[in-house]
Amino acid sequence: MPDFPPLHADLSFNSPLSDARASQLIAELGNLGSAQIVDVGCGWAELLLRVLEANPNAGGIGIDTNSEALAHGRSNASARGLDTRVRLINTDAAESFPAVPNLVMCIGSSHVWGGHAAALEAIRGHVSSGSQVLLGESTWSRTPTPRALTALGATAGDMPSLPELVAAVGPLGFRPLSVAEATQSEWDDFESGYSRGYERWLIAHKPSDADYDKVLLLADEHRKAYLDGYRGIFGFAYLHLVAV
Ligand SMILES: C[S@@+](CC[C@H](N)C(=O)[O-])C[C@H]1O[C@@H](n2cnc3c(N)ncnc32)[C@H](O)[C@@H]1O
Repeated sequence: MPDFPPLHADLSFNSPLSDARASQLIAELGNLGSAQIVDVGCGWAELLLRVLEANPNAGGIGIDTNSEALAHGRSNASARGLDTRVRLINTDAAESFPAVPNLVMCIGSSHVWGGHAAALEAIRGHVSSGSQVLLGESTWSRTPTPRALTALGATAGDMPSLPELVAAVGPLGFRPLSVAEATQSEWDDFESGYSRGYERWLIAHKPSDADYDKVLLLADEHRKAYLDGYRGIFGFAYLHLVAV
């Protein structure tokens, strides 16, 4: 498969997250003072960097296994004068979790532990009462159609609905401070940004290129999977939680 531009070339975040929602989530966290923040599966850590910009005495650790994403995050941190307050570590977050953070962010990364319930259980084991958690989690916005399931290679049991997700947090030791779902516009922006990597490759290459037809098919199949398959069905929830 040819090399595509990195996702960060076309996306601010590797999840259906708008700038406006990021700002709203950061405002909801309140004044974090000198909090220690852990971002699990941080990717290039854009949300963590924005939280640190809003909280000049806080420190953060981002954990991911994608060295290219981490390198981009480190470069952004340095360019924004945040490199003394953030460490981006390449390791398996399930194996290595920094001690006693005041805020854990886990956006699109609960698969590190095998899903939302296992992730919340593991996170609860690392935080004290009163610590905050920002969870971004895949959900079914509507009952999945056979076409949506095929497009995602998923089964109906793979994800909770939003009410099921929220109902799960209490028994795992959290209370929800806010609950929201990514809008259609956030999803469309995310999917368009994702697909733009393929489109930019196609623009940069000629139809006579050996890989051209393969990439064209990939681009069209991905877009069709979204538009004809899971658009409006595959959801993404943002939960702001506090540990009890
Ligand atoms: C959907 S992305 C979300 C990235 C980021 N939270 C964001 O919203 O932009 C999931 C991330 O989890 C990372 N990941 C997967 N398995 C991991 C593991 N075992 N430990 C740490 N990170 C992992 C992936 O490399 C990827 O960057």
